[in-house]
Amino acid sequence: MSLKEQIDKEMIPQHVAVIMDGNGRWAKSRGKNRLSGHQEGAKTVKSTIKACREIGVKYLTVYAFSTENLNRPQQEVSGLMQLLVKSIDRELDELSNAGVRVKVIGEVDKLPKNVQKKLQFAIDKTSGNTDLTFIISLSYSGRWDILNAVKSIMSDTKQNLIDPNNFDYQDFERYLSTADVPDPELLIRTSGEERISNFLLYQLAYSEFYFTDVFWPDFNEEEFFKAIYHYQNRERRFGKTSEQLKN
Ligand code: IPE
Ligand code: IPE
Ligand code: MG
Repeated sequence: MSLKEQIDKEMIPQHVAVIMDGNGRWAKSRGKNRLSGHQEGAKTVKSTIKACREIGVKYLTVYAFSTENLNRPQQEVSGLMQLLVKSIDRELDELSNAGVRVKVIGEVDKLPKNVQKKLQFAIDKTSGNTDLTFIISLSYSGRWDILNAVKSIMSDTKQNLIDPNNFDYQDFERYLSTADVPDPELLIRTSGEERISNFLLYQLAYSEFYFTDVFWPDFNEEEFFKAIYHYQNRERRFGKTSEQLKN
């Protein structure tokens, strides 16, 4: 039986988040430059979207570029930006026809203007789609997300739009970049690194983490289904005991 067939269709996570790591090492191990690793990684994004649609995942969030990644050599940063624009040009029609809605989170105004424009075009074109929401984290960091929420909350409080005595988690979550998006049940990180690297700090509070040594360019559909299969065999206790869950 293939891995895909072993997946329980009743237990598909609604939201999967991915830290796509290892493009550089993938390239290095083949004697290629880092950018060719990123190009190959872009193909994995495509196959991961396909895999999500096949099994009915409703939200896929990818960490494409962190706030900290802006500190990489200028040549790599601009190469990544170009790759992003090219990928949108190449894939947008197909994504749109497949019912994928594109959403972007992060400090987008730190990105080059042409990239911002292209992203907005993709968001607008796909805004009516409902099959899969594909969230691209760009110039994103979890601490920025939280701080940004706090700043908006302070401003709304000043304008008397918020009653601090009557403000709960749900109210807070509406200020995060992921407002209206359920928390990820599963976080995948490739390439053997086991850290969050300032990704969705608040939203990952109770996510299951899946780490694999596979570099992102090699993370094919089969590897994705393996991650889902592992997730389905975890016991999510949310603070309770195993016995409580069984009763
Ligand atoms: C992930 O691959 C892609 C981005 C961070 C943009 P890396 O570029 O981090 O690859 P490694 O970690 O150097 O192998
Ligand atoms: C994290 O990857 C961000 C992305 C995958 C885009 P990095 O490879 O930059 O993370 P660190 O700095 O090694 O933790
Ligand atoms: Mg890395």
